[in-house]
Amino acid sequence: MKNNIENKTDCEKWESIIDKKFGWLKKDNDKPTIDYTKSVLGRMEEHEPDHGAVFCLAMGAPGSGKTGALLSCMERTLTSFPKEKVFFNECFNTPLQVCKMGKEKYQFMTESDDIQFFDRAHGGKQIFPDVTPFTDFEDCYKKAKLGVVNVIFFKDRKKMIEFIGYLRDTCSWNHVFIDELAEVAPAFASGDDWKRIEKFSFILKDIRKAWINVYSNVQSISDLDSRVRSKIMVRIFLPGSAKDKHSRILQKAIDNLREDKINGNEGYIEYFSRFCKTRFNKIYKPDPENLIDARVIEKKQEKITNG
Ligand SMILES: Nc1ncnc2c1ncn2[C@@H]1O[C@H](COP(=O)(O)OP(=O)(O)O)[C@@H](O)[C@H]1O
Ligand SMILES: [Mg+2]
Repeated sequence: MKNNIENKTDCEKWESIIDKKFGWLKKDNDKPTIDYTKSVLGRMEEHEPDHGAVFCLAMGAPGSGKTGALLSCMERTLTSFPKEKVFFNECFNTPLQVCKMGKEKYQFMTESDDIQFFDRAHGGKQIFPDVTPFTDFEDCYKKAKLGVVNVIFFKDRKKMIEFIGYLRDTCSWNHVFIDELAEVAPAFASGDDWKRIEKFSFILKDIRKAWINVYSNVQSISDLDSRVRSKIMVRIFLPGSAKDKHSRILQKAIDNLREDKINGNEGYIEYFSRFCKTRFNKIYKPDPENLIDARVIEKKQEKITNG
């Protein structure tokens, strides 16, 4: 299927597409970057089987909008590809930011009863939101809904690695979002974790041809395992990020990114040394009435006594 964005020559049209679908705005005075804007953002948007999927990583200081950037990409994906499945792996013990998208846009999926939910807005009391339980990867994939973000809770967050491996065999376009990738693939892992990340780096090599878009973020690139780092295709630099040695963008340019809590922070997006400056103009403010967090609480084994 030829991507219709490829056919547009009019930059104004292109910018309005970015505006609408990405919620990001290109700055007017960045004239020389227009072609790059087209090729860089178009690469994330296109569905060209020959080009395949991308592995995209956003970097930035805490509060720079890294999770917001993922939510923005999710909204775009839900709108652009309503017949494809979208998965999100969030952190435990912190407010679930997918809630900022609105209840109608997500479903929670849990692997085990040990995953419990708590309401931070009301003293942290336990709550029982609607969840879709699943038994294994196949069951999870089958029960994942179209048109919403399927927020997956594995007891072990790292299991997302094996889930992406499973998705390779579905022979469909899929989209996986992982918040704080350094929790899944940390630098300096050892033992079994080291082996799992080794496998992850092989899986990431396959995702392009297996049509699995993987979007993620880290605070600092040095927190991430180097085998995973070398597979990044699209980099998003938000304020406070550190230059990565594979990037052409200068640290000074990153340091000059403007922060704006009302109109959105600026960021650079780079795809294999082509880059453009954008502004993430959709602000995902926390909803004070919807501050849920998820925790893993192992159920105590009942004591078995004989008589
Ligand atoms: N695009 C944005 N530009 C500026 N501020 C933002 C943006 N998105 C979110 N914010 C604000 O910053 C806070 C942190 O955003 P978040 O995406 O959680 O950052 P991070 O994941 O980098 O810690 C949000 O609560 C919101 O108030
Ligand atoms: Mg975050």
